[in-house]
Amino acid sequence: MQDSDVMAKMAASMVEGGEDSFRKIFKFYRRRNPPPDLSDVIDFSRCAPVNLDTAAVSDVEATRVGLQPVREWRAFGLRGHPGTRSRQSLNKVWMRAVWFNSVRLPAGKREARTLLERLRWVTLGYHYNWDTKTYSPSSHTPFPRDLHLLSAHVTAACGFPGFISEAGILNYYRSDSSLGIHVDESELDHTRPLLSFSFGQSAIFLLGGPRRQDPPRAMLMHSGDVMVMSGPSRLLYHAVPRILPAPPGRLALETGGSIQTPPPQEGSVVEPVSEEEWAVCSRYIQSSRVNVTVRQVLAPGQKFPETPRSHQTTDPGQTDGYDDGENGKRKRSSSDSPYAAETH
Ligand code: SIN
Repeated sequence: MQDSDVMAKMAASMVEGGEDSFRKIFKFYRRRNPPPDLSDVIDFSRCAPVNLDTAAVSDVEATRVGLQPVREWRAFGLRGHPGTRSRQSLNKVWMRAVWFNSVRLPAGKREARTLLERLRWVTLGYHYNWDTKTYSPSSHTPFPRDLHLLSAHVTAACGFPGFISEAGILNYYRSDSSLGIHVDESELDHTRPLLSFSFGQSAIFLLGGPRRQDPPRAMLMHSGDVMVMSGPSRLLYHAVPRILPAPPGRLALETGGSIQTPPPQEGSVVEPVSEEEWAVCSRYIQSSRVNVTVRQVLAPGQKFPETPRSHQTTDPGQTDGYDDGENGKRKRSSSDSPYAAETH
């Protein structure tokens, strides 16, 4: 992989100037006018691939969740960030399944459109409480089986067998949205990887270090990309400063797209979505990005503590974690989404 020393130099000069480097780089990529130079943003399609455990998932298992055999996957590691894997790509089948698992729209077209415009996030499994920054056994619905199997197969191929998907957060980004600097540490077991699936428009993803002020590296996330943060990379600070238009052909919505995977086969575990729902979804992602993070909350046999502890660390200067460009920075709260905690 071509490493980028430029960002490190830029970060060093910013720290010398007394400013926090992650914050500065976040603002650099968030800037509208003039738009930022993107030449240092890592594009995984130009990186050297890393090996996966091709024996961990059989071809039949892969096919049943709508994936190609593992030997066909392309995975990349990030130098200096052991445990990070990004791979391309998921397909229309998975965008449909994610839509099915998260959004149920009312029949009225106008009401549906209004709700979709307001949609910012959805939680699955153990529903994350944005106010206390905790999960709790009292706020739980069964985690979607298809998304769990997908996650378990991806993690197994990356060398982490036995992953149990217990919580999911879907973030819905418009073209001017961003996600503030944070680390995902509310889960009680950090030895299990964190998975991130991206669909729709592209994004610049900043991956920093274990300390808030560590300079991040910028990388492109396209539709269908999966990022696995594991081992030492599980607790790294990260953020999404900018949404970018998907490059031509990268939405991979139809078989003519860049991703050629078979349609769901007999025995498929992927929930089907009606053509009508798919039409709404495919229209939505022409201008928006959907990201799903899947987490294992508890180690096997672990129980929630009697008194929940708050873990999540968000950039204190950014108060929220989610920046809705049009309306300025907003604090995410449990009442923020019309769909919060309503799914499965
Ligand atoms: C997250 O960190 O929760 C989401 C990251 C992304 O949208 O890529």
